[in-house]
Amino acid sequence: MGRKVQITQMRRADVKTVFGLQSEFEAFLQGLTANTRSTNAAARRRLFLRYGFGRKPAFKCLIAKMGGVPVGYICYHLGFDPDEMSGPVVYVIDLFVSSGARGLGIGKALMNKVAGICREEGGIAVYTCVWKKNRKAIGFYRSIGADWVTDVPLMRWPKDRF
Ligand SMILES: CC(C)(COP(=O)(O)OP(=O)(O)OC[C@H]1O[C@@H](n2cnc3c(N)ncnc32)[C@H](O)[C@@H]1OP(=O)(O)O)[C@@H](O)C(=O)NCCC(=O)NCCS
Repeated sequence: MGRKVQITQMRRADVKTVFGLQSEFEAFLQGLTANTRSTNAAARRRLFLRYGFGRKPAFKCLIAKMGGVPVGYICYHLGFDPDEMSGPVVYVIDLFVSSGARGLGIGKALMNKVAGICREEGGIAVYTCVWKKNRKAIGFYRSIGADWVTDVPLMRWPKDRF
């Protein structure tokens, strides 16, 4: 990694700038699939603050800065996988590196930080979901040593059906 990258816990004050990265992410996803995040940016920001930085945070985020400028972030939460009852697991729910800062090792550094947190918690694996069309991200995850979970497809039960 050439220029120095700092990775720290994301704070409330970072959220505004992170949403600049999130809209870049949104545009990136839109290019991949029509089925994008359903709520608009302002509503998502409110939810992000409420569930990430409220009294009972549902997830945590790390932010990567280069020369003080945010260039990437990762969000994750702790969980359990019944097939891996030998310890907790960490789910990565969002990972993004700004297009101008890719290929510098920032994505890997963010994943490594989360892997370190997983290890500290006694965890045994890091999980993530990735769009099938996102070939670059798949290449990235494979290059760091992740592999497909092929026999456990994700199911979704939306609230209007319960
Ligand atoms: C995927 C993403 C996070 C990778 O971040 P990055 O900072 O560019 O990746 P890094 O520079 O840390 O790359 C780390 C390693 O992955 C490898 N890698 C990166 N992209 C790759 C690809 N498409 N195919 C194979 N290997 C790849 C690099 O060669 C590097 O290997 P090395 O350590 O042996 O040199 C970034 O491209 C991104 O934000 N993409 C858009 C958003 C996205 O898809 N997020 C994931 C959603 S699930």
